[in-house]
Amino acid sequence: MQFDTVIHGGTLVTSSDVAKGDIGIRDGRIVALAESLSGGDQRIDAGGRLVMPGGIEAHAHIAQESSSGVMGADDYLSGSVSAAFGGNSSFIPFAAQHRGQSVDEVIATYDARAASSVIDYSYHLIITDPSAEVLQDQLPRAFARGITSFKVFMTYDMMNIGDGGMLDILSVAREHGAITMVHAENNDMVKWMNGRLAEAGLTAPKYHAISRPELAEEEAINRAVSLAKLVDAPLFIVHVSTAGGAAIVQREILAGTRLFAETCPQYLAFTRDDLDRPGMEGAKFVCSPPLRDAETAEALWRHIKSGTFTSVSSDHAPYRYDETGKFIKGADVPYPQISNGMPGIAARLPYLFSEGVVKGRISLQEFVGLSSANAAGTFGMTGKGSLAPGMDADIAIWDPEATRVMGLQDQHDNMDYTPFEGMELTGVPETVMNRGALITHKGALVAKEGQGQFVARAPMTLSGHGHLAKERDPAQNFGAQI
Ligand code: URP
Ligand code: ZN
Ligand code: ZN
Ligand code: ZN
Repeated sequence: MQFDTVIHGGTLVTSSDVAKGDIGIRDGRIVALAESLSGGDQRIDAGGRLVMPGGIEAHAHIAQESSSGVMGADDYLSGSVSAAFGGNSSFIPFAAQHRGQSVDEVIATYDARAASSVIDYSYHLIITDPSAEVLQDQLPRAFARGITSFKVFMTYDMMNIGDGGMLDILSVAREHGAITMVHAENNDMVKWMNGRLAEAGLTAPKYHAISRPELAEEEAINRAVSLAKLVDAPLFIVHVSTAGGAAIVQREILAGTRLFAETCPQYLAFTRDDLDRPGMEGAKFVCSPPLRDAETAEALWRHIKSGTFTSVSSDHAPYRYDETGKFIKGADVPYPQISNGMPGIAARLPYLFSEGVVKGRISLQEFVGLSSANAAGTFGMTGKGSLAPGMDADIAIWDPEATRVMGLQDQHDNMDYTPFEGMELTGVPETVMNRGALITHKGALVAKEGQGQFVARAPMTLSGHGHLAKERDPAQNFGAQI
């Protein structure tokens, strides 16, 4: 058999298996797996290394305006390069609707922004204005293009759509086999806390954590799940930061609710004490939901291990530690005016590998599930997330023993800081391939700007359970009218 590339002598890892072997690649796809393959126009020696499906980053804000209208530091070129150095061969950033904007216009805007990506991409569509035209015409059109996930916010005045809006989106998503993602924090609780803290003159970065209590997340997760159950629609809770929130997710999954959730490295690696660093340094750790505590981090790890979370995502939301980013509204501003978010697309997998696999919390196969395979399944990237003949040749080669002290140079993005500064991590993604083309190789960038492609995603195979909550069951309540 003719191969464009053979990756030779590595340890192949998927979400189910670990075995030594070679991979044969032709026309951007994996065409052979065997103990040993000869030939190949290009041979890559993976001796002593792990060969895994490339990471799929399912939560990143790239070339996107924040909840308060501030453009993040990374465009699709810098964001995708940073992702690739972090072991990712594709990502699904957000395409965000501003109120009054049509979804068609949103997608056209992001298509232009994403043209520079070096890795494959899709978008989750953020809906902030669920008008009749959006619900009836524009979302179905987006869905037909392969955009099969919609995201809604329960917090932020400029983003949240209320419970009724959520029911509308969930219903449309269910009808088409899309999945709804939700940022779950109770907006009024946060605003009320902001008011009390402002009255008391408590405005330093550390009060950001106090202003967004764990109860605000737990209440909103409970409510989001109830809304999804009313219309029997699948739901994905993004960036779960609390043990209470994770426990609700776990309980609902066990009860059969079609529910998915992720957490993020920042809730494992940092605590609210990082918000209390000297001067305004804490601004580097302002993100929402906020950082919690060490006990919560341990609980979240247990939920990762036991399957409550199907993915660990970065929530990469890059704002520089300067007047273009964190301090765009002023240098010594009260915490609510500090731009919200942390960079992490390059550190997500190295952190998860080092703290998860190397420290024995998760297996290699679980690592592949959490980093790639499960996101491919949940979000319909059917050609990615595994190593099997017919799949895209989206591959990351890791040196599992290389150790480094993380610094800004490991991020390869447009940022001027990394929250992971000084952290010693073991395991380095050295080579990333997307559809058979090298993106990074032995630590160097080899991709050309714009070589990433849009990926049309598949619908969920089982979007609902086929049964509505009993309150909405026509036979019980509404006759045939609903
Ligand atoms: O603080 C964060 N996470 N900023 C990004 C926007 C969001 O809430 O996902
Ligand atoms: Zn969010
Ligand atoms: Zn986010
Ligand atoms: Zn159900």
